[in-house]
Amino acid sequence: MRLEGKVAIVTGGGQGIGLAYVQRFLSEGARVVIAEIDPGRGAVGLAEAGDLGEVEYVRTDVSDPESCQACADAAVERFGGIDILVNNAALYGDWDMSDQSYAYLKRMFDVNLHGVWLMTRAVAPAMVEGGGGRIVNQASGAAYNYASAPAGEFAGLGSYSYSQTKWGVVGLTKFSAAQLGRYRITVNCIAPGVVGTDATLKQLSEDMLDHLSAEQPIPGRIQVDDLTGAAVFFASDDAGFVTGQVLVIDGGRHMPA
Ligand SMILES: NC(=O)c1ccc[n+]([C@@H]2O[C@H](COP(=O)([O-])OP(=O)(O)OC[C@H]3O[C@@H](n4cnc5c(N)ncnc54)[C@H](O)[C@@H]3O)[C@@H](O)[C@H]2O)c1
Repeated sequence: MRLEGKVAIVTGGGQGIGLAYVQRFLSEGARVVIAEIDPGRGAVGLAEAGDLGEVEYVRTDVSDPESCQACADAAVERFGGIDILVNNAALYGDWDMSDQSYAYLKRMFDVNLHGVWLMTRAVAPAMVEGGGGRIVNQASGAAYNYASAPAGEFAGLGSYSYSQTKWGVVGLTKFSAAQLGRYRITVNCIAPGVVGTDATLKQLSEDMLDHLSAEQPIPGRIQVDDLTGAAVFFASDDAGFVTGQVLVIDGGRHMPA
């Protein structure tokens, strides 16, 4: 019960990794708000986590400032404060790789990166008022992926929007940690490798997932439960002086200094 008495918001908590965080946080004694854009997924999240503790669903679009503020206000009203924010929501399973337009690039940044800033801004006053807090951002091993263009005639720049946004999350983590440390708010980041979620299987074939999993220094499919312990640590009282850090959980594929 390492999060006993804490109030947590998990964005994108209706399914996949976010739902695993919700479930683990409830099991550790937290009360949790699922901040999720898709009401169907929110309902699934509530159904899957409801038996584990006190959990609410608040429909939230992290790319919309007013929606983020309404989510923070709802958490304070329902549970009396906010101790933990997990910025997990992103266009990942729903990412349309075929859309190379500038408008879509901006949408990716609005959700994956600016959504982290908007939610952080929305919860910070309640955390300051409560004497501190914990923010855990979800980046990705994709932040560290650089692929060279295929040989042949120049075919245009292409879009690396997902990786760009996740590299931005790494940077935003450090900026926010510096800004908020004085208020005893820590900000850290988890960068998972390829995790065997339904979202991943929308983007990659089983064969490709097996191939990527097999070539890691620690081979094997990473599962959602391989990430939750790190989130609990960053969110717990044990991590009071840990801030601005990125923990890569990818079986050793990337080992940034
Ligand atoms: N699964 C992986 O292999 C993997 C690897 C590295 C990083 N990640 C990151 O982990 C997180 C979760 O991944 P997942 O596999 O569970 O993906 P997912 O697509 O299943 O989950 C994302 C969730 O965010 C929600 N969401 C999307 N836009 C939103 C918005 N504007 N406001 C609020 N909620 C919104 C979605 O409805 C969905 O429930 C994402 O940030 C993803 O980029 C995933």
